[in-house]
Amino acid sequence: MDKKTKRTLVTCALPYANGPVHIGHLAGVYVPADIYVRYLRMRGEDVLYVCGSDEHGVPVTQRARKEGVTPQDVVDRYHNIIKDSFERFGIGFDIYSRTTSPTHHRFASDFFRKLYDEGRLQERTSMQYYDEEVQEFLTDRDIVGECPHCGNPDAYGNQCEKCGRDLSPEELINPRSKRSSSTPVLKETKNWYLPLNEYEQWLREWILEGHKEWRPNVYGQCKSWLDAGLQPRAMTRDLDWGIPVPVEGAEGKVLYVWFDAPIGYISNTKELCESNPERWGTWQKWWQDEDTRLIHFIGKDNIVFHCIIFPSMMRAHGGFIMPDNVPANEFLNLENDKISTSKGWAVWLHEYLEDFPGGQDVLRYVLTANAPETKDNNFTWRDFQDRNNSELVAIFGNFVNRAIVLTHKYFGGKVPAAGPLTDVDKEALGAIPALRESLERNIESFHFREALKDAMGIARIGNKYISDTEPWKVAKTDMDRCATILNVSLQICADLAIAFEPFTPFASARLKKMLCREDLVWDLLGSENIMAEGHKIAPAELLFAKIEDEAIEKQLRKLDEIRAEREAAAKAEAAKAVAPAKEECSFEDFEKMDIRTAVVLEAERVPKTDKLLKLTIDTGLDKRTIVSGIAEYYTPEQMLGREICILANLKPRTIKGIESRGMILMAKQGDGSMRFVTPEQVVNPGSQIG
Ligand code: MF3
Ligand code: ZN
Repeated sequence: MDKKTKRTLVTCALPYANGPVHIGHLAGVYVPADIYVRYLRMRGEDVLYVCGSDEHGVPVTQRARKEGVTPQDVVDRYHNIIKDSFERFGIGFDIYSRTTSPTHHRFASDFFRKLYDEGRLQERTSMQYYDEEVQEFLTDRDIVGECPHCGNPDAYGNQCEKCGRDLSPEELINPRSKRSSSTPVLKETKNWYLPLNEYEQWLREWILEGHKEWRPNVYGQCKSWLDAGLQPRAMTRDLDWGIPVPVEGAEGKVLYVWFDAPIGYISNTKELCESNPERWGTWQKWWQDEDTRLIHFIGKDNIVFHCIIFPSMMRAHGGFIMPDNVPANEFLNLENDKISTSKGWAVWLHEYLEDFPGGQDVLRYVLTANAPETKDNNFTWRDFQDRNNSELVAIFGNFVNRAIVLTHKYFGGKVPAAGPLTDVDKEALGAIPALRESLERNIESFHFREALKDAMGIARIGNKYISDTEPWKVAKTDMDRCATILNVSLQICADLAIAFEPFTPFASARLKKMLCREDLVWDLLGSENIMAEGHKIAPAELLFAKIEDEAIEKQLRKLDEIRAEREAAAKAEAAKAVAPAKEECSFEDFEKMDIRTAVVLEAERVPKTDKLLKLTIDTGLDKRTIVSGIAEYYTPEQMLGREICILANLKPRTIKGIESRGMILMAKQGDGSMRFVTPEQVVNPGSQIG
């Protein structure tokens, strides 16, 4: 490892407790961190692994409002679900606490107060939208209005989802509050800002000069923030859910969630240390001693908070070490679509385990093999099935199974003695130390996909070795040679149990149990004679089970249903959209239009078109033909005898070779669907409208 230190502190982004965790979380943050930590622990390093739930912030309050419960109810529910999911997937935090804990509240509050007392924060007043009906300041997402760029009538205060532009609430035309029907008003409010600009020079040196080895995506994002120039950023919010701002006159204000949450790493460490000081020492040892290496595992949307804002906060406070590395991942998509908690497009961990009981390792494996380390990546159920069946089952599991079953069949379950090694034997065993070295280098430099390939490389060697040497055939003629082959195979099995432990800890534990070697440590990996002659092993158990097509199809059906629901919801939403107002017209303009009622006498489709009907109508004045684009919504049969309204004096137009005289009046909805405009009661054809 680059920096020679006494200990390593690993943090994982604190997940928002406003929903369960999904495969994107696991792939982006928790599996890579867990691989790293397990590896360090196996190497005997002093490591502390911290996480917890991020329980404040606007999304929690929104969810609570939607469900009609309190924010505390929401976070209690999801904290438990999330904690349980992590435990079941073997994500072995030393502590998983929460930002609503009393320890955290006090710690974050004191942290803020120190910055305040030492004059590190700027007090500023600004105008913000306020909803007088609910008597609260509005968050950017609680304000909607017309987008000044594209006219979308439902743009949010921070972004227009139609044209994608970032907005600020004051830019919206005709803003409306989502919290009530009222029009929000601008009202003065006071908040406290961290002058990030004062830390810019120091950040440039620390990151841009000092950490060129960080992942290109992380370094690049930092550079573009720094090049754009940093602005003071508010560290408090007008909100009633969060940690109260510990300053007089700040009633109704709380600490900004991105101020309080990262402090959660420290307060959770403190909570652990205080619960067991003999084991962990003081929290200061982990956060303030230069002999600690601090690593933050996060997703890419968290980079600025962990590389710029949190370090500036710690710098302003003083006394803290800075992160050594921030290995942020890109995003994982699900079947080519962005994973979204709010849209329900995700594979939730707790649901996954219902459908694939005992399937923790498979998911850990697939998410690592496909980890979005350098670019966004895609999870598909077919790939999941493939990797399980053709890698874990066909290579790793198959090899181990053959080695152990044959040892029982020919040698009573005892490691047989090896005779002189042939070239094939030496080649197989000899390749392992280099793979170990590469695996170590890859894990230490946060290249987990490559590290997994190295581990799988060992399984490939074993599987090829046993297929090539065919001990089941050799047994018929040469028992000594068969003994050697199985001895070599069992050594490789032991290597696999060690090498896979960071990645698939459950399978590794089962394999160690089969080998009756629960004591296998990292240092043995690739060494000679790990499995001593005569050592008794346990019967073979299946390491991985084949995943059948039906199981995959079931998952795909589930996603299809979500997609269908989402599309139906989007359609309903679109139908609600209202067309923009037209330009003013004069009464004379209106008077020119001869609008009257008519009755449909005949109707037929216009050949070779999908949308057009040819109608013969009685206008009271005459019988005439109109061609109308309504065939998607009405059949000719539905048209017969129908009373309609028409614009009778529209200049005749020729459509598909048919002269159309007039136009039918229709009400057109936002999604394009149409309905007839008709008189409230039957009237004579030709009645004038105006
Ligand atoms: N809850 C945030 C998210 O899910 C992450 C918070 S990380 C912390 O994006 F550092 F603030 F804790
Ligand atoms: Zn727009």
